[in-house]
Amino acid sequence: MEIKFTPTTTPKAKPDETKLGFGEIFTDHMLIIEYTKGKGWHDARIVPYAPIALDPAAMCLHYGQEVFEGMKAYRAEDGRILLFRPQENFKRMNVSNDRLCIPQMDEQMMLESLVELLKVEKDWVPHLPGTSLYIRPFVIATEPKLGVKASDTYLYMVILSPVGAYYKEGINPVKIYVETNYVRAVRGGTGFAKVAGNYGVSLKAQVEAHEQNFTQVLWLDGVERKYIEEVGTMNVFFMIDDEVITPALLGSVLPGITRKSTIELLRSWGYTVTERKLSIQEVMDAARNGRLKEAFGTGTAAVVSPIGELKCEDEITIINDYQIGPVTQKLYDSLTGIQWGKTEDPFGWSYEVKVD
Ligand code: COI
Repeated sequence: MEIKFTPTTTPKAKPDETKLGFGEIFTDHMLIIEYTKGKGWHDARIVPYAPIALDPAAMCLHYGQEVFEGMKAYRAEDGRILLFRPQENFKRMNVSNDRLCIPQMDEQMMLESLVELLKVEKDWVPHLPGTSLYIRPFVIATEPKLGVKASDTYLYMVILSPVGAYYKEGINPVKIYVETNYVRAVRGGTGFAKVAGNYGVSLKAQVEAHEQNFTQVLWLDGVERKYIEEVGTMNVFFMIDDEVITPALLGSVLPGITRKSTIELLRSWGYTVTERKLSIQEVMDAARNGRLKEAFGTGTAAVVSPIGELKCEDEITIINDYQIGPVTQKLYDSLTGIQWGKTEDPFGWSYEVKVD
């Protein structure tokens, strides 16, 4: 697919890399591809970053027909720009598209068009350790209609944002509140897809957790309110004795790419990793008996984030004395080592963006 390029006439100053937050600054250009029923995906273009015009009746605004992805471009020490398993994100986006009746996209075309955008924005990939260029591909339904149905028109867009750490804690342990009142997803719903609605419904719990000084909430299953699902923006792992346990993907948990990579890395090091139903009771019991050694979350934005404290109803448990555990640290070092091109990449996960 040909991509038309309109360069900006007003390039922005690059941000101070020592002060990067998360998703607050956007680059000079964005990618847009349109979809029209009967015509397919068409009119790919890279244009100056700017507000878009939407009909107030655009269906995404009323019925939440929207999907998105999150990925990062990393700057290696030698200047190369690397992506981490980008094909996995585009594969997942098509799974999300399918769940929300959005037409499938050619995954190769998504990757190639992202590479074109990154070539234009290459100077926006930051250089400081721990920084990266966050990539946000998304699709919105644009047909102006108030009847509830799948839209006949869509916009696929990619915007880019230079970022630092997602949590203010950085790699330091976060405090997590076990949510026993609200639920995020149920099997048969959209929990496994990356759709805006999953995050919208999570806000109330997040606000209440923040009010109590917790970083994020840990969601329990929506039916029995017993089994652990995921943390706000991360999948979650618990090391009980020598076994690393993570909730199985039964339809209500997001199949994270960092989650998948974590499982593959741990197994390659000889750890037993079990994907199964894990009740909060089992975790709290293990903590009481001194068997809960480490807990951590994984995600593109959050990378690997140790959990230092869990509050479940009236009980608070401190994990590993509020210190990052050895397994969590090794995972963080290995994943970030591969992502930033600092260490060997035995799995072939790195994808170099050839900018010249
Ligand atoms: C990601 O980890 O990329 C996410 O999508 C989490 C988030 C910022 C919504």
